[in-house]
Amino acid sequence: MKNIYYFLIIYILPLQLFAQSKSISDTLKQPINLTAQEDHARLLKLLNIDSLRPGPSGNPNAPNAANSDEAKANPYPNLPDPLKLNNGHIVITPEMWWKQRRPEIKEYFDREIYGRLPQNIPGVKWDVIKVENNKVADIPVITKKIIGHIDDTKYPLINVDIELTLVTPKDRKSPVPVIIHFGYDFSKFPNFDSTKLPPDFDKWKSEILSHGYGYAILIPTSFQDDNGAGLTKGIIGLVNKGQPRKLDDWGTLRAWAWGASKTLDYLKTDKNVDGNKVGIEGLSRYGKAALVTLAYDQRFAIGFIGSSGEGGASLLRRNFGELIENVASTGEYHWMAGNFLKYAGTLTTKDLPIDAHELIAMCAPRPVFISCGSPEVEGNWVDAKGQFMAAVGAGPVYKLLGKKDLGTNEMPPIGTPLVYGDIAFSQHSGGHTNAPNWQTF
Ligand code: GCU
Repeated sequence: MKNIYYFLIIYILPLQLFAQSKSISDTLKQPINLTAQEDHARLLKLLNIDSLRPGPSGNPNAPNAANSDEAKANPYPNLPDPLKLNNGHIVITPEMWWKQRRPEIKEYFDREIYGRLPQNIPGVKWDVIKVENNKVADIPVITKKIIGHIDDTKYPLINVDIELTLVTPKDRKSPVPVIIHFGYDFSKFPNFDSTKLPPDFDKWKSEILSHGYGYAILIPTSFQDDNGAGLTKGIIGLVNKGQPRKLDDWGTLRAWAWGASKTLDYLKTDKNVDGNKVGIEGLSRYGKAALVTLAYDQRFAIGFIGSSGEGGASLLRRNFGELIENVASTGEYHWMAGNFLKYAGTLTTKDLPIDAHELIAMCAPRPVFISCGSPEVEGNWVDAKGQFMAAVGAGPVYKLLGKKDLGTNEMPPIGTPLVYGDIAFSQHSGGHTNAPNWQTF
């Protein structure tokens, strides 16, 4: 009897398990490969839209140059009221904001703009693969290389890892505040030459460390590519088992923000980090991702949102610099939900039920710093004024929650930071970089 039992366990059970796992992987559909153009056309079909309006050019000398005339910049000057419920009632208490209005705004951003976070996102297992004692600009630090392995048991055909580096000052005995920086993976840049970076490019690191804080560099493209062809791969592809997105599925910005939230989960377990004092920072497309992160994940303590422009802190309703039509095009649509494309097709920005000031309002009551450069150096593409106006527009929500707004509706001159409120704004005199504004932050 005993022998039969052993026979079953040793010979029959493994065979059965093997057959079972083989049939699982046989039944898995291979990930679909679509170019950005193909996927974009697929979304337009789902939306019953034949074509989208083309966006203007970022080249000021082009015949179709983006508008830079302030007199033509506000075709739809009335912004949706962040403190008016969909049923018309005015929000007069913090409780009404938290229980009624904020969820309405979040639902619009989920459905129409950035897409929804899926219910079934697999877990992340963090692995510290290397710890080094080294120096950053003569400051002794502990550097940890960390990988977040995403559980792929439900779809083993796509493997995704999150790349993270944590740097904390070595001589601090207690856990330190940390800022997460959305960083580029320069190793993937063809012919990258680090000597060509501006001299102050990395200065922020020593500035942060000299305050006794740490920083974490998160590589968003390690877990979600920055293009439309990547949408059936990375974390978005893994969750969808290699199939293309539904119209309200998350776009790349939300996926990157999700990665920042997972990073925060890890940081809360690291003994060198004060998990209640973690901020988020990014520039340009990563500035957009930083704002989405801060808006959606209330555990983040503070945000530094650099030159985030259209799809970030600039008002979508404005006609200045980059427009919704540019973001809805094949080069950038992947950042957003499929539904977003409607507003560059059958609808226009005046049909948007929300705008960027309400994304900033979702960050309330936590401090948020809206930053950009000078139009003379950076250009008009990021619409500095549109970002300022959005920061003003978020003010009433901060005030309702007992916090300070920007303190003025007048845009300050370049180099005159407004930093006395819980919403801050500063336009430095440089170009498309956060470098000069770290000190202000
Ligand atoms: C393009 C894009 C912007 C984006 C920027 C960047 O200019 O149109 O929306 O912010 O790239 O990320 O560098």
